[in-house]
Amino acid sequence: MSEPRGAGDARLAGAVTERAPAKINLALHVTGRRADGYHLLDSLVIFAGPGDTVTARPAKEWSLSVTGPRAAGIPAGEENLVLRAARLMGGPPAHLTLDKHLPASAGIGGGSADAAAALRALARLTGRPIPADLQALGADLPVCMASLPARMRGIGERLDPFAVPALELCLVNPGIPLSTPRVFAALERRDGGALPDHLPDFGDAAALAAFLARDTRNDLEAPARQMAPVIGDALDALRAARGCLLARMSGSGATCFGLFANAGACADAAGAITRKHPGWWTAALR
Ligand code: C5P
Repeated sequence: MSEPRGAGDARLAGAVTERAPAKINLALHVTGRRADGYHLLDSLVIFAGPGDTVTARPAKEWSLSVTGPRAAGIPAGEENLVLRAARLMGGPPAHLTLDKHLPASAGIGGGSADAAAALRALARLTGRPIPADLQALGADLPVCMASLPARMRGIGERLDPFAVPALELCLVNPGIPLSTPRVFAALERRDGGALPDHLPDFGDAAALAAFLARDTRNDLEAPARQMAPVIGDALDALRAARGCLLARMSGSGATCFGLFANAGACADAAGAITRKHPGWWTAALR
C-alpha cells in the first residue's frame, strides 16, 4: 500500500533550500569564563539577509558541494560544519549544496549559520527532529537555529527575544580572516559588566544606536584590532558615511557594521566604500 501523497509531505520533496543569514552582534560583552575555557557572553544578536543558502537533496551517500562567489577556500570535506551537522542529524543520506555569499572567519556566523540552515533543510526533507545538543556543533548554533533577534547569554545557550526597530545595515569586511579562538585568547580582561538588566524599548534605529553607543560595547574589538589594524579603517569608512548612526565590529571580527535609518544612505555608503576599497567585501543588508 502506498503512502498518501499530500502536497505538504516534505519527504517527497526533491530539494529543500534554507537561508543562512549573516549573524550580527550589535553588542558583545565578555562577562566571564567557564572552567572549560569557553567565555560567558551577554550579546545582542540580529540576523540580516539574504546570506548563504544550503540545499539538501536525497542521495545515495552524504556529500557536500560548495558553490557561489565566496566558495574559494571553504572545505567541502568532513571538517565542514555543514557535514558535521548532517552527521549529527542522521537519517537517510543527502547531497548538500552550500552556496557561499558571506565571507568566512569574519565574525558574522558563517559556519554556525550554515550548519543551522543544513539542519533546517534536512528536517524539512526527511521529517527528522533537530538534535537537542546543538552546542556540540558550536556555541552560536542555538541562536543561528532560531535566526531571530535575541539577547544571548551563557556561551550562547540562553536566548531571550528582543524587539528590533527597522534597520539598514552596511557590512564591511576588510579582507582579513580572523580566528575566533585567537581573538578570545588575546583578551586582556574577561570580567566586563553585563548589559543593562532591562533593555529599553527601541522606538527607532536612532534610539537603538544611541543605546548601543552609550551602554554597550564589543569587548572583542580591541584584541581583534590589534591583530588586524585595518578594522580601524573599516570603522572609519563607515563613520564617515552620511547617515551612519553607529559603526562597530561584529563577533570576533573582522566584519564591521554601520547602522543606518535610511536605505538610500545605507546603499550610498556601501557604494562609496566599494569604490574606495574594491578589495573589501561590502554589502547593504536589512
Ligand atoms: O563554539 P565554536 O566552535 O563556534 O567556538 C570557536 C572557539 O571560540 C571556541 O573553541 C573557543 O575557543 C572560542 N569561544 C569562546 N567562548 C564562546 C564562543 C567561542 O571562548 N562563547
